[in-house]
Amino acid sequence: MLARLGVLYVAKRSPNGVLFVCGTLLAMKIQIITLFPEVIEPYLNTSMLWKAQDRGLVAYDLINLREFGLGSRRQVDDTPYGGGDGMLLKPEPVVAAIELAKSKSPKARVILPTPRGRLYKQSDAKKLAASAEDLIIVCPHYEGYDERITNWVDEQYCIGNYVLTGGELPAMVMVDSVVRLLPGVLGGKASVEIESFQSDDQFVEFPQYTRPEDFRGLKVPEVLLKGHHGEVDKWREIHSQKSA
Ligand code: ADE
Repeated sequence: MLARLGVLYVAKRSPNGVLFVCGTLLAMKIQIITLFPEVIEPYLNTSMLWKAQDRGLVAYDLINLREFGLGSRRQVDDTPYGGGDGMLLKPEPVVAAIELAKSKSPKARVILPTPRGRLYKQSDAKKLAASAEDLIIVCPHYEGYDERITNWVDEQYCIGNYVLTGGELPAMVMVDSVVRLLPGVLGGKASVEIESFQSDDQFVEFPQYTRPEDFRGLKVPEVLLKGHHGEVDKWREIHSQKSA
């Protein structure tokens, strides 16, 4: 395979042995700016997120914000004007890191996880996956960030009505929810196809079971054991629950 400018050319050999480029696949580039790359790296290198990368469907790049810190102490934070508790991320290191990421991926969408953002939904994950645009996710830390950095940001998302200590977990939530929707990432396409018809407030799931048929007296519903697809579909529809 020849990887060039984020585009993956799949090289194949014809029956007479000639090497040719048979098509192009877009590899989504996801750059994450963080003070704690060591927290994010193991998650990206596990299970489906790792497989997606291994198959060339996505390329991750962790950018350590500390490297853009100011002075010999690599300072990235400072006290808020007007007073108040805690420290805020300074604009200079964050914007320098975004500019570096943009130089590698000029058209990337810049995303800022923040409790002040719009609620992140499944429909946002679908839009980001469908657009196949590269992403740059900036993870704030400490008590917040200098508001001026939002001039370099395209979207601000909140992942739920609670406050976390930083943007690393929200960044992983977003990466996971987008990457699993990229074509070729999940083995079975069926669940992604079902999801594609669901809207955010109509997100349904039915209970599922695997072996053994009887676990400590708790039995798998008879209808699921019989292999009658129509009956199984009917049972699943009846037992689908709307998420709140
Ligand atoms: N940073 C801290 N809490 C957050 C949340 N709920 N969503 C997104 N970013 C955050």
